[in-house]
Amino acid sequence: MMILPPASRIEVADLPVPPPHAGEVDAVLIPADQLQERIHELARKITADYAGRDTVIVALLSGTVMFLADLMRRLEFPLRLDFMGVSSYGSGTESGQLVYTKELKLSIRGRHVLVVDDILDTGKTLRSVTAKLSELGPASLKTCVLLDKPERRTGQFEADYIGFEIPNLFVVGYGLDYDERYRNLPFVGVLKPHVYSEPTCV
Ligand code: XMP
Repeated sequence: MMILPPASRIEVADLPVPPPHAGEVDAVLIPADQLQERIHELARKITADYAGRDTVIVALLSGTVMFLADLMRRLEFPLRLDFMGVSSYGSGTESGQLVYTKELKLSIRGRHVLVVDDILDTGKTLRSVTAKLSELGPASLKTCVLLDKPERRTGQFEADYIGFEIPNLFVVGYGLDYDERYRNLPFVGVLKPHVYSEPTCV
């Protein structure tokens, strides 16, 4: 059986912030090449685990956009893809009430489902999503997250496939946003404090 090397614990290092982003980004937490290396490892393990199974990838909108694209192109087995929209309406960087903004289109009954999300934080989103999906009769149900902030968990939940463990910091980039901005950064980083105190228009 193929073993996935454990998720490495990332700490803020002294990595240079690329010039176009230096005004707003305080630090690079995970550079682009490290993201790709780990996603390659995840894809090899998921391919080994799911090859030959009738699989549906369920990606949560919208933060998974880059992770999903890079992961999917490396999954070497036939699969189906569907999306669920789930938003947490809190203020700023705090999560609040969960609202489903898009439901599944495909049937998952009797199929092997892998839920892909950007980040596991309090666990509220994935606890709710997995409870909802398990009622639809999948053959199996697992979760894959790029980032995990274990210190923030408010209840029991562990993902089956984890890219990186990160400290308790609000992160942006590589699909993750603050007020719908910064999703296009090619790395995962931390914003400068002044960004949070400026008025934003979405
Ligand atoms: P929960 O708390 O439900 O959080 O596990 C999951 C969702 O909250 C968002 N989230 C973040 N988004 N930077 C972000 O851009 C962060 O550091 C962060 N922490 C949580 C995200 O949408 C995730 O799916």
